[in-house]
Amino acid sequence: MSDHKGFTLWFTGLSGAGKSTLAQYLIPMFTEMGCLVECLDGDEVRENLSKGLGFSKEDRDTNIRRIGYVANMLSRNGVIAITAAISPYAAIRDEMRGNCKAHFVEVYVEAPLEVVEARDTKGLYKKARAGIIKQFTGISDPYEAPEKAEVTVHTGDQSIEESAQKVLDYLHEKGLIPARQVQKA
Ligand code: ADX
Repeated sequence: MSDHKGFTLWFTGLSGAGKSTLAQYLIPMFTEMGCLVECLDGDEVRENLSKGLGFSKEDRDTNIRRIGYVANMLSRNGVIAITAAISPYAAIRDEMRGNCKAHFVEVYVEAPLEVVEARDTKGLYKKARAGIIKQFTGISDPYEAPEKAEVTVHTGDQSIEESAQKVLDYLHEKGLIPARQVQKA
């Protein structure tokens, strides 16, 4: 039986900024600590819970409300609910924060557009620039950066280890994850 508290770890950032990568890196660390953890990943959610939704503001808001709803259910039941969707609109992120019955930790996974475009991990920026994909976040659709995220990581110039550590440091500081084991000499 796990006795840690649940919370929502809400990642936001451009496509290719590293939200899913960071989530996947952190999951085994939380598991090691004896915590229950689930991840609502943007691409996965769109294949399942949000299948059929597009990228208009209305559809994105619906997608985010679904993710927030599930994250709230999980986190109030002792699970660390990680969300990794672009979630480009500040107002809806704040709405999810307000709805969340557990702690809500917003993590801005920041990387400059030039960096994510150069990475172009899924080849989508090229298509967006060519106008093949419309309403693409950062190119032809807005991204509203958080103004008061609990944690900001800069994946353009920080390693994944450094970014993960910054998140863990915050969570430790707030007592949301078990204290570090002190190494005996
Ligand atoms: S959100 O805006 O509703 O939060 P979400 O994170 O679920 O977006 O989905 C984003 C992913 O969908 C991107 O990483 C990318 O792979 C894909 N995608 C396809 N079309 C678009 C688009 N027009 N804008 C942004 N991402 C898109």
